[in-house]
Amino acid sequence: MNNLLNKFEKVFNKGNGSIYFAPGRVNLIGEHTDYNGGNVFPCALTFGTYAIASKRNDRKVRLYSENFEKLGVLEFSLDDLVYNKKIDWANYPKGVIWAFENNGYKINQGLDILYRGDIPNGAGLSSSASIEVLTGVILKDLFNLDVSMIDIVKFSKLAENKFIGVNCGIMDQFAIGMGKENCAILLDTNTLKYDYAPVKLDNASIVIANTNKRRGLADSKYNERRAECEKALEELKSKLQINSLGELTEEEFEKNSSLIDSDIRRKRAKHAVYENRRTLKAVEALKNNDIKTFGRLMNDSHISLRDDYEVTGLELDTLVDLAWNQKGVIGSRMTGAGFGGCTVSIVENDSIDDFIKNVGDKYKEKIGYEATFYVAKIGDGARKIK
Ligand code: GLA
Repeated sequence: MNNLLNKFEKVFNKGNGSIYFAPGRVNLIGEHTDYNGGNVFPCALTFGTYAIASKRNDRKVRLYSENFEKLGVLEFSLDDLVYNKKIDWANYPKGVIWAFENNGYKINQGLDILYRGDIPNGAGLSSSASIEVLTGVILKDLFNLDVSMIDIVKFSKLAENKFIGVNCGIMDQFAIGMGKENCAILLDTNTLKYDYAPVKLDNASIVIANTNKRRGLADSKYNERRAECEKALEELKSKLQINSLGELTEEEFEKNSSLIDSDIRRKRAKHAVYENRRTLKAVEALKNNDIKTFGRLMNDSHISLRDDYEVTGLELDTLVDLAWNQKGVIGSRMTGAGFGGCTVSIVENDSIDDFIKNVGDKYKEKIGYEATFYVAKIGDGARKIK
C-alpha cells in the first residue's frame, strides 16, 4: 500500500489520495446464461484492482496504471467523453464516467487515479469489469453521489456494452460489486434477484488454472453466440410465450426444439436451457453439502460448453481433461467467456500440490507453454479501503 501511495505522489506530484479496491471474479457454474435470462453462480476473489484517487481543480482526468507503465499517464477532458482508441485501457474508466453522466450524475471536477491490478489480463477473471466497478466506487465516494452498488454495477455494464462495445451480460460487474467473503452469489439475471450461498467445500479448495492462451477472436465469437441464442429465442416464440431461454425447463425445450430451424442454433439454445437448470441444481447440492454432485454438475457444464456451445478449444479442454484424471478432483470446468482464459476446479486440499504439478507438466508437454495456477479465496466486493 505504501508503495502505491509513493507511486501516486511521484506520478501526480501530490499526496493524500484515497485508496479503493475491486476484486476479480470466478464463475463456479452458470456459463453463457447471463444474457439468456438465466442463473449464474459467481464469486468475488481476494485478488483484484487497487486504486488511489483524488479530485483535481480542473476538468482533466489523468490516469496511470502500473500494469501498463509504458503507456504513461493517459489523459482526457470531462468535456470529451467519447471512446478514443489512443487512450487504450483508460477507455474503461472513461466509459464509466460517461455512464454516470448519462444517468444524470454530474462529475464536475477532474480526477487523478493510479491503478494497480493483480488479476492476470485477458484471463477471463474480469480485470476490465474490476476496473469499471472500481471507478464507479471512486466516483460515488469522491463526489458524494447517492448511488447504490447495484446502480454502479449497471453503469459499469452499460460502459462495457455501449462505450467499449462488448455485448456482455451483467454477471461480472455484479459479482465484483456485490461479492461477499466465502460466499458465491446465485443471481437470476432476468429479475436481478440474488442470494448468497456459503461455499463450504470441507477439505477442498477452488483452484483456478490459466491457459495463458491469447484470446484472439473472443469478442466477436461472444457476440456471435449471443446472436445465435437471440435468433433461437425468436424461433421458439413463434409458438411459445416466453421472453428468454431462461424461462424454459429441459422438458419444455425438448418438446419445442424443432421450432428452431438450424442444428447449430438448437445446440446453443439447448446449452442455455440446460445450463440454467444445472446451476439451480448445483446450488441446491452445495446447500445440502453434497459437493460430489456439485462437482459432477461442473463437469457436465464443461461438456455442454464444449459440445453444444462450442466455446472451449484445445487449451481449455486439455486442462479440464487432465484435471478430470487427477486424484482428488471433485469437478472441473472452463469459466468465463471461454476461447482461452481459465478453468475452475474443486480439488481436495491434500491433492492440490500433485494436481498443480501433474496437470502443469502435462499441459506444457502438450500445448508447448505453461499454465498458471492459483488457489483461490472468495473475498468481498468493491469498496473504499481508506
Ligand atoms: C463473459 C461476460 C459475462 C458472461 C460470461 C459467460 O465473462 O462478460 O457477462 O456472459 O462471459 O458466462
